[in-house]
Amino acid sequence: MPFELPPLPYAYDALTPYIDEETMHLHHDKHHAAYVNNLNTATEGTPFANMSIDELVRNLNMVPDDKRTAVRNNGGGHYNHSMFWEIMRPGGGGEPQGQIAQAINDSFGGFDALKTEFNKAGVGRFGSGWAWVIIGSDGRLAVVSTPNQDNPLMSGIAESTGYPVFGNDVWEHAYYLKYQNRRPEYLEAWWNTVNWDAINERYNTGRTSMGG
Ligand SMILES: [Fe+2]
Repeated sequence: MPFELPPLPYAYDALTPYIDEETMHLHHDKHHAAYVNNLNTATEGTPFANMSIDELVRNLNMVPDDKRTAVRNNGGGHYNHSMFWEIMRPGGGGEPQGQIAQAINDSFGGFDALKTEFNKAGVGRFGSGWAWVIIGSDGRLAVVSTPNQDNPLMSGIAESTGYPVFGNDVWEHAYYLKYQNRRPEYLEAWWNTVNWDAINERYNTGRTSMGG
């Protein structure tokens, strides 16, 4: 099978108390696995099966009409969740470190202002979707949100485009067992899991890919 479910890079209980073990099992082993399986079904026997997931979500307009929705939803789901596991870690959180810290100050005026804007985007996303920090076309960081499993690499399709430096999953499957309807509480707690080293790596990759 061309697309594969990446193993969770830490134990299922590693993000407690912010994200519980049962949620991590369901989220990774069932939800993410389903996106990968459905993506493989949709792309089987096509050239898209040989693309990297990054390349695929950037080139959705090349996918034939009859497969595009399936690839958009499941390819987006695979990309977004692969990113999500990476940008969290046990013992994470705290103040931003490295180059992203400076970029956050330059773009938002400080980490607290970023968190306020990001959490607002997450709460304001009606239904299911993601809140993101992207590198925009002007090279600055910006907060956006996307519905469903869209992501900011889907140029011509997503509501907001740019390079997704990091994002948080605001689907109910990400938080409902522990937080029920309290999405704002989940968004606030989630900052205690972020992996600033991984976010700095993505920031550098994004700057390179956007030519800056
Ligand atoms: Fe999810």
